[in-house]
Amino acid sequence: MSSQITIALSKGRILKDTLPLLKAAGIELAEDPAKSRKLIISTTHPDVNLLIVRASDVPTYVEYGAADVGVAGKDVLLEHGSTELYEPLDLKIAQCKLMTAGKTGFEEPATGRIKVATKFVNVAKRYYASQGRQADIIKLYGSMELAPLVGLADIIVDVVDTGNTLRANGLEPRELITHVSSRLVVNKASMKVKFEAINALIQQLSAAVDA
Ligand code: ATP
Ligand code: PRP
Repeated sequence: MSSQITIALSKGRILKDTLPLLKAAGIELAEDPAKSRKLIISTTHPDVNLLIVRASDVPTYVEYGAADVGVAGKDVLLEHGSTELYEPLDLKIAQCKLMTAGKTGFEEPATGRIKVATKFVNVAKRYYASQGRQADIIKLYGSMELAPLVGLADIIVDVVDTGNTLRANGLEPRELITHVSSRLVVNKASMKVKFEAINALIQQLSAAVDA
């Protein structure tokens, strides 16, 4: 029975914050993904490989079994919306909040539709529906903070940490949609077929998170 484990991760803050947890689990990278163009990175653990993918693609790789395990922000998981992934562990890294934000002092009309720009289209649709508010959602892929400044939207839905990006652009946080941290996600079939290896990884990462 195979005990090879493939882990999907994104470069940037998730990789940076996950490396110490992997190290505590006895997994170190054979080369630095920041310096390499390689997308499959071997590790010091003979049975573990990493796949370097876009943050928003992690759930897709894991859902289809191209990776057994992945690390993804709760924002990305909510937007992806799959029920086909196990989410056994909160890694408590890359903590931020999903919020609505608008121009400082902007007053939302009491009735009528508002224009909301975001890359989290599904999250925004669900949020405004749950509030009974009518919103036209405009899909963007980045630089959401620009949208209210140039009249593309009244409101944005984005992740906020320090609030510096909002402030620098004359925006203010408004409503909290949810707190966000990164989660370990596991393919359902892998969890069955590779139970021992994946369960051991979950236990080691869990101990590292608590340490
Ligand atoms: P993609 O490349 O798929 O568009 P991204 O550019 O949002 O994704 P990162 O910026 O690396 O990818 O963010 C990865 C995760 O880190 C996000 O999904 C979110 O959970 C969290 N995150 C984003 N911004 C911050 C922040 N400023 N502070 C803390 N955590 C953050
Ligand atoms: C993220 C996010 C916000 C910002 C919020 O951008 O898209 O713009 O962080 O953080 P803050 O509240 O501390 O300012 P990131 O730094 O990841 O750059 P990106 O636009 O490349 O995703």
